[in-house]
Amino acid sequence: MYTISTLISEEKLVARIKEMGAQISRDYEGKSVHLICILKGGAYFMTELSKYITVPVTIDFMQVTSYGSETTSSGIVKIVKDHDEPLEGREVIVVEDIIDTGYTLSYLLEMLKDRKPASLKLAAMLNKPDRRIREVKIDYCGFDVPDKFVIGYGLDYDQKYRNLPYIGVVEGLD
Ligand code: IMP
Ligand code: MG
Repeated sequence: MYTISTLISEEKLVARIKEMGAQISRDYEGKSVHLICILKGGAYFMTELSKYITVPVTIDFMQVTSYGSETTSSGIVKIVKDHDEPLEGREVIVVEDIIDTGYTLSYLLEMLKDRKPASLKLAAMLNKPDRRIREVKIDYCGFDVPDKFVIGYGLDYDQKYRNLPYIGVVEGLD
């Protein structure tokens, strides 16, 4: 059995996402941004973030899987769904739920760089720095979280709890 406790309330999370949107709006003044959401976890964060960006926004989606157990990734990343629109010449921001080991995003950013965007940045709702194996530069980071399994706002445990409007911690996992 396990229990769920609140780590970041909905109010704090949304306030921080608003700040991130404002910062992106300042950084890209006079330009447009192209957001690439990493499914499924990044979906809640991207829709919220995009509401607070005041420069023109376009969106696209990618889905990747990394082989491994349910709660840890392995470093081998497979593209399940690629983005639809070309990236060449665009100001791209990859929008991800959480950077944990860094395997997924270090692989993905290298791959996307080859597709010649004008710029390529990373926005992550959460960062778990204690678990990093591959270095990843997070340009826009919501919150650092401790080395615990977190859920909600897109993040799942066994595909459940993505719809929680706050970030919770799962405790009592073996
Ligand atoms: P990374 O490749 O280890 O950086 O992590 C990639 C993916 O693992 C994230 O996009 C999440 O989907 C998943 N993940 C990592 N930590 C957690 C967590 O605490 N809760 C839920 N999913 C997680
Ligand atoms: Mg993910």
